[in-house]
Amino acid sequence: MADTAKLEIAGKEHEFPVLKGTIGPDVVDISKLYAETGAFTFDPGFTSTAACKSTITYIDGDAGVLLYRGYPIEQLATDGDFLETCYLLYYGELPSATQRKKFVHDITHHTMIHEQMVLFFRGFRRDAHPMAVMVAMVGALSAFYHDSTDIGDPRQREIASHRMIAKLPTIAAMTYKYHVGQPFVYPRNNLSYAENFLHMCFAVPCEDYVVNPVLAKAMDRIFTLHADHEQNASTSTVRLAGSSGANPFACIAAGIACLWGPAHGGANEAALKMLEEIGTVDKIPAFIEKVKDKTSNVRLMGFGHRVYKNYDPRAKILQASAHEVFDALGIKDDPLLDVARELERIALSDPYFIDRKLYPNVDFYSGIILRALGFPTSMFTVLFALARTVGWISQWKEMIEDPSQRIGRPRQLYVGPAERKYKPMSERG
Ligand code: CMC
Repeated sequence: MADTAKLEIAGKEHEFPVLKGTIGPDVVDISKLYAETGAFTFDPGFTSTAACKSTITYIDGDAGVLLYRGYPIEQLATDGDFLETCYLLYYGELPSATQRKKFVHDITHHTMIHEQMVLFFRGFRRDAHPMAVMVAMVGALSAFYHDSTDIGDPRQREIASHRMIAKLPTIAAMTYKYHVGQPFVYPRNNLSYAENFLHMCFAVPCEDYVVNPVLAKAMDRIFTLHADHEQNASTSTVRLAGSSGANPFACIAAGIACLWGPAHGGANEAALKMLEEIGTVDKIPAFIEKVKDKTSNVRLMGFGHRVYKNYDPRAKILQASAHEVFDALGIKDDPLLDVARELERIALSDPYFIDRKLYPNVDFYSGIILRALGFPTSMFTVLFALARTVGWISQWKEMIEDPSQRIGRPRQLYVGPAERKYKPMSERG
């Protein structure tokens, strides 16, 4: 694309700069559009709008590519681990051996939460959805750690970020324990990030719990795959909340609230429920017909993506991971895995899905693995939130440190009534 783009409004031509990224589509800078022309742009759902510059994550949806700071997700998920990925996302580079050691130490030694927070859980009903508890508990961090809420202080920003990466697994595990009515299990510093999380979730005081390394690796991989995904709905929510100067704990709580929706992070829960409802392979054709019938309002959950118009690279990794987990657990056959594979095969050869470029996304296989690890569906989005926290916090930091940062304030196309006179009740009929 040329260096400028021209737009004609009411017979007058206006020129706008075209910005070039490292890779990816060019971007027409229309920030002066309103000042110069008095017009806004209209783009519901932000399908053509870049809301920020970012150096963190790159997605090529047509090619099915996902890069964190330039590194392909496949390499990070296979050769790296989650805490290294956290360091990479937050600081921009892979850590040296010394940096890694210090980071792992810092995160590992901040996993406990203020004991007063433990009492907070008791206020919730046991049958509360774990995401409702997560939104509240993460928001409450700002009440307990106000010594790291000054967003103008870089060290406080770093402390708040480390605290969230370290404490989210503890809060998520306690949410699970409260949900199932078991005693809380405190963090253990001799375990890795994923091992410690599984231990806090599945250990009970009455017997030893030894973490299976294959399951810990699968958990770690799920965290890595969910760590960031550029400007999706929850990340944009975090950025928008943060743009007003809100403290980082409140911003991450806002991101968790947004993630909860079934079109976003709630899709993994919805995808597994769908597989359970279908139940057996012979029921798939009837289900596919229902999905294709626009009046049914049924979607194939775990399929389709706003950005990926190809196989989501994360889904491919998880499909392989599912087999490792099943082998480690000695599960020979899982009817849900059979349904998932057959559903995928049929959908990928059906013109409805081919024409609309609908492919499996990350949520299609993650639920099957999480279920095999022992998590109920109600916890799936919580695990997504835990993993995405580092992405949100890295994006928040990038925004705060950007000198051009201003409060986010979208405009609108007003289509309501024009000004009219107030009618007293006696005249309203
Ligand atoms: N099943 C059936 N039809 C679908 C699906 C689906 N899962 N997804 C999109 N379509 C159809 C849709 O009906 C529309 O058809 P038509 O052009 O005939 O009206 C067309 O494909 C385009 O759909 P859209 O709703 O305009 O696409 P979008 O970019 O706004 O939505 C999406 C993206 C992810 C919300 C959507 O694909 C969806 O609802 N998928 C199921 C939920 C899901 O798996 N979400 C997880 C996303 S990945 C994890 C994350 O980012 O949180």
